[in-house]
Amino acid sequence: MEMDFATVKSQAKDQLKGFCRVCPICDGRVCSGEVPGMGGVGTGMSFRNNLTALAAYSLNMRTLHGCKEPSTETELFGIKLSSPIMAAPMTGTPYNMGGTIGERDFIGMIVSGSKQSGTIGWTGDGADPTMYDSGLEAIIAEQGHGIPVIKPREQGAIIDRIRRAEDAGAKALAWILMVPGW
Ligand SMILES: Cc1cc2nc3c(=O)[nH]c(=O)nc-3n(C[C@H](O)[C@H](O)[C@H](O)COP(=O)(O)O)c2cc1C
Repeated sequence: MEMDFATVKSQAKDQLKGFCRVCPICDGRVCSGEVPGMGGVGTGMSFRNNLTALAAYSLNMRTLHGCKEPSTETELFGIKLSSPIMAAPMTGTPYNMGGTIGERDFIGMIVSGSKQSGTIGWTGDGADPTMYDSGLEAIIAEQGHGIPVIKPREQGAIIDRIRRAEDAGAKALAWILMVPGW
């Protein structure tokens, strides 16, 4: 179902009430330190620093060039993307977002919404197995068009999640390593 931007914003304000203010510029300022939640840990400075670093990239208009059909398309792992922008893995709707949106619905929006935009969504992991499983369900519903991310766990649990991601037909997968002493 297609929705205009104003409706998306007002629905988000309603459904994420108390957890995300849907600010005009999402820079982690108002929600700083709100963890669990949508904010960055501590002062939220890393959140703002990332935004500043991204803002250093801009499109320079060149009036004279040979390009007749400009394209933002790119390719990753052999997957064609409409732009080099992907949706980050996010889980934990009960404790990070107030629980109005269910886990499966939320990750479905990331995975299906990304696919509809011609790009790809990543899915997350958490202490509750529902988190990872919901992501895989969303990926299966889109014929494998998604990338699961596995959190640090014991070896057997990681291998089990890798196998299930393969069975789901996931295009790629990632896992987060814990480096002792780092
Ligand atoms: C509410 C919330 C839940 C998240 N859950 C996960 C997760 O389950 N797995 C994961 O790898 N990253 C998770 N992240 C981290 C994001 O995927 C992302 O790496 C982080 O927000 C920083 O990216 P950015 O600088 O592009 O905002 C979560 C972030 C938020 C805000």
